Amino acid sequence: MGREEVILKSRSEIEKLRTSNLLVAEILEILKGKVSAGITTMDLEGIADGELKRRGAHPAFKGYRGYPYCLCTSVNEEVVHGMPSVKRVLKEGDILSIDFGVCLDGYYGDAAATVAVGIASPEAIRLIEATSECLERAIPAARVGGRLYDISHEIQSCAEKSGYSVVRDFVGHGIGRSLHEPPEVPNFGRAGTGPRLKEGMVLAIEPMVNEGGSEVRILADGWTAVTADGKLSAHFEHSVAITEDGPYVLSRL
Ligand code: MF3
Ligand code: CO
Repeated sequence: MGREEVILKSRSEIEKLRTSNLLVAEILEILKGKVSAGITTMDLEGIADGELKRRGAHPAFKGYRGYPYCLCTSVNEEVVHGMPSVKRVLKEGDILSIDFGVCLDGYYGDAAATVAVGIASPEAIRLIEATSECLERAIPAARVGGRLYDISHEIQSCAEKSGYSVVRDFVGHGIGRSLHEPPEVPNFGRAGTGPRLKEGMVLAIEPMVNEGGSEVRILADGWTAVTADGKLSAHFEHSVAITEDGPYVLSRL
């Protein structure tokens, strides 16, 4: 895990990645604004597709290992890789994770966020806020001279202190001229271990946090990952460049 060569990026490549990730952030913001009871996850897919075409960018996920859509839309117990559907009507109190990636000028952007549909239960809101906090706590660990699993450890300890568990079957990743590059960025690990973090590494850090156990299973569609116990799951992701000036959150608006 994480042993293959990491591709370090120059300043100008990091700015290209910033442009792609800012586009992701802008479109994610539009999508979040459209989330409401009564719309379908396919409606969101249509909006994402339209925004990409308007801006001359390409969806990063569509065609990736045969995945058919621009977005992953994962509702409630769905962890990641939920597929937009005309049959999935969002309802008040659902939670929705939107994961979105683009390719612009050969450089990839990738980010995700979980939102409540209308007013969700206090339990659901607590899970969403804790998962966002896990990502925010992990970002400062993306620093020159640190170790890769410092990031992993921050996510795991943050999730577990709230009584949640982290998903182990999916991980964050390097990002650049491909959507997925080495190294893998697990959401669990021991601080002070793993490869040294260097200037020019760009990592997609993506905590997936479960209300119950960490186990997931894949539905018959071959994509949708759901919690084994049927409890809720939340997902946040930012693409972050490691620079001498500190972490540069490329997908932050
Ligand atoms: N953010 C996810 C990832 O980086 C999205 C991949 S979805 C896929 O792995 F459909 F493209 F596989
Ligand atoms: Co990702």
